[in-house]
Amino acid sequence: MTSHDKSGQYDREFNRRRFLSFLAASPLAAHGATSGFAQGLSAPPKLPDPMIWAPLELDKLITDPKQAINVFDFEPVMRKNVPPAHFGYMASGIDDEATLRANRADFQKFQLRPRRLVDVSKVDMSVTLFGQKYDTPIFICPTGSNKAYHDEGETAVAKAAKVGNHLQILSTQTTVSPEEVIAAQGKPIWYQLYATNKWDVAKAFVMRAEKAGCVAVAVTVDRNGGRNQETLMRLRRTDNRNCVQCHDNSSLAAQYKTRPMYQGVDLSGLTNIQSSAMTWDFLKRLRDTTKMKIVIKGLLAHEDAKLAADNGFDGIIVSNHGARSEDSGRSTIDALPECIEAVGGRIPVIVDSGFRRGTDIVKALAMGASGVAVGRPYLWGLGAFGQPGVERVLELLRIELRAAMQQVGAPSIKDLKPGIVRRV
Ligand code: GLV
Repeated sequence: MTSHDKSGQYDREFNRRRFLSFLAASPLAAHGATSGFAQGLSAPPKLPDPMIWAPLELDKLITDPKQAINVFDFEPVMRKNVPPAHFGYMASGIDDEATLRANRADFQKFQLRPRRLVDVSKVDMSVTLFGQKYDTPIFICPTGSNKAYHDEGETAVAKAAKVGNHLQILSTQTTVSPEEVIAAQGKPIWYQLYATNKWDVAKAFVMRAEKAGCVAVAVTVDRNGGRNQETLMRLRRTDNRNCVQCHDNSSLAAQYKTRPMYQGVDLSGLTNIQSSAMTWDFLKRLRDTTKMKIVIKGLLAHEDAKLAADNGFDGIIVSNHGARSEDSGRSTIDALPECIEAVGGRIPVIVDSGFRRGTDIVKALAMGASGVAVGRPYLWGLGAFGQPGVERVLELLRIELRAAMQQVGAPSIKDLKPGIVRRV
């Protein structure tokens, strides 16, 4: 079922709700509170999202990826194409979605200080990380279940990433095997680890990823407990298809037995794909298990960033899991400077969560990040048009990054220095 099936009624309701949510800047409004209540809460939107001006009516949506003028153009097209429950899974934050909004709004806490009279007729956006050269510091975040958005899933993403020579980080929850993704990319990728509650399962995942040709493992450390994905739950209720035809949710093992990473692994005793018990000892044990670089994903505090570097891990990703772990209300662009300072240049610091614009990326790089990873935007492209959609999303980000570098007077990534950005 798609929103089309309800003759546009669903989309009008969607537009109305979104308009109210912008008006009220309230998650209650976004989740369908009555208009009277929403108006009662009305406060001026802090950061009107450009999507409010992007056409949302079905007959005005872009019909070809080339028509897109920014990454936001793809989201309503994905929403039209993808079942509401799957769209909701992608879109959802946690609780009040304060972090989700902060991840966008907090870019306004930082302004650019452009330098002039620098020759930027040629711009080199390339970066080298762990000996591998990429055309830009724009990386592909791990996101699960890509076939829920398009039949080609992670393969389409890999092929699109290859076009722009982007680093791809593949999720444990991938719906395509790492071997196939590496073949589609034609070069090494990184693997994202959900450690689960069982060491043997984590070890099997990591050994397979290494054998497949992954060169780094990004260990997710920010999913320790349950989470309240209200947007997912509300959208799921609008989806009247029978999920059981596609998902066997009777147990975790049943749910994941068709997922490539879980094939051939003894799943007895698997109760959680995350690990509530993970400590630094797990990472030390992992160090003795794999030759892959170990990058710790999900750090937000300078104390942890320092521990990562002090203990010889290879990199960190400052991330709040796309606002899908705790609803802290704190953005990653806010957390980035303290983590960069704590690491002191000893290991690369990558950042993700909320990056949508070339200027967002420039701000993080100027603060000292080695790369910026994007998640939802490429899923919008995937759900909207498959591989060509992902390609265009990545192309738009590259175009915007190049333009932003020219505007601030930085012909190469190393010219993006801290003085280019100031905290308001
Ligand atoms: C997966 O990483 C998720 O947040 O659902």
